[in-house]
Amino acid sequence: MYDLYADYRLLGTFDVAQTARLVARYHYIEAQLMRMAAGKLADLPEWELKSLLGRHLWQDSLHADRWLARLIDLRWPRRAPLSPGEPLRRLMALLDDAPGSAAFVGGIYRQVKPRLIAAYTAHRAACAPLADEPTWDLLGRTIADEEEQVRQGLALLESLPAADRAAARDYELLVADACEAVGSFADPATAAEREAGGSFEGQQIRPAPSVAARDGRFRFGTSAADRPPVDDHELALVMAHRDADNEMHAAELLGRSLYEHPEMPWEYHVDTARQLWDEVRHALIYQRYLEQLGGKLGDFPIIPGNYAYRIALDFAHRLYDLHLRGEKLGMPDLIRYRESARDRGDTHYLLLNDFVHADEVPHVKNGRWLHWLLKDDREAFRRIERETMQIRAAYEREHADDPIVFAYTGVVPALLNEE
Ligand SMILES: [Fe+2]
Ligand SMILES: [Fe+2]
Ligand SMILES: [Fe+2]
Repeated sequence: MYDLYADYRLLGTFDVAQTARLVARYHYIEAQLMRMAAGKLADLPEWELKSLLGRHLWQDSLHADRWLARLIDLRWPRRAPLSPGEPLRRLMALLDDAPGSAAFVGGIYRQVKPRLIAAYTAHRAACAPLADEPTWDLLGRTIADEEEQVRQGLALLESLPAADRAAARDYELLVADACEAVGSFADPATAAEREAGGSFEGQQIRPAPSVAARDGRFRFGTSAADRPPVDDHELALVMAHRDADNEMHAAELLGRSLYEHPEMPWEYHVDTARQLWDEVRHALIYQRYLEQLGGKLGDFPIIPGNYAYRIALDFAHRLYDLHLRGEKLGMPDLIRYRESARDRGDTHYLLLNDFVHADEVPHVKNGRWLHWLLKDDREAFRRIERETMQIRAAYEREHADDPIVFAYTGVVPALLNEE
């Protein structure tokens, strides 16, 4: 009879307590890598880097989440992060201080992630594949994701200017030293032990840029086009360009909302990482559609407002303005665009809009974190709702010419009236 488990050896190196300590360390590393990448999105200018980080940080949120869940199996009584130890805290704080794109990418993909893969691989080789198959299996899947991430991260690093890469070498050596101070990530003797206050304990919060950075292709302006579009084709180009950029601005804002709130429950971070990745994909969907129409990023001016306006709001008002005002009130627009694509027989737009719409529904639902934040106090919720609308209205009065005031998507009515 075929025996699936015939080759599984019985003995492993680590016992349950040692495995739990390692799993807790993996959770901390993956969680903090997720959070840092989210925080960098608005700071680092390269569009393709934002895209790459969006996908990878979503994967890391799942890795971290699965490690946290595994901890309970390993006799720890609850889903709780454990203290990572001072050297690991210092390493993560150093990564967060990376001076620029090449430094961050080099530090993560040439220093930290390869060591993480080495630790996962060593642990997998040492653990008991039958007795500890849940860990063994999780290690295997995570290694596959991480190896792909490193290949992609290094490819992106290679595509950055040589001068930037050369300037980042000294910083990368500091990261390598900080890694050495931690020792092997797969050594339970140096790993975490008692519960920590949160998954990001001991980490700083860097200030947010007031405008999200863009690379040299882009130019900021005060409207989505320099002049009213001459025909339907040009209108479609303007809208695809505007939507690509607006979706990225949403991702950058979410990145900050994830990064700035280590005190929020772990599940909030997982939800936000998923929404962030969705918004990055939406940006790329509109970019590809734009390219299919014959346009490219940078053909039109961009408006920083979708990020710049909301980053100035406090957390509660920002949650309302993004999830319950922007995402929710944007739905009818989205459906209207789909109907007009159906009328003109644009099957590409129809399909992309259908999936974007499906993604946006849970984004509205993420507004439940505002209810959670307000402890389900309905009065407090109504106050935040009222104030958010009032702040918007005041902004609109003061910035009558600012195109972001006309619709959450930043549409200039004159452009849409052409339809
Ligand atoms: Fe990961
Ligand atoms: Fe979106
Ligand atoms: Fe969304």
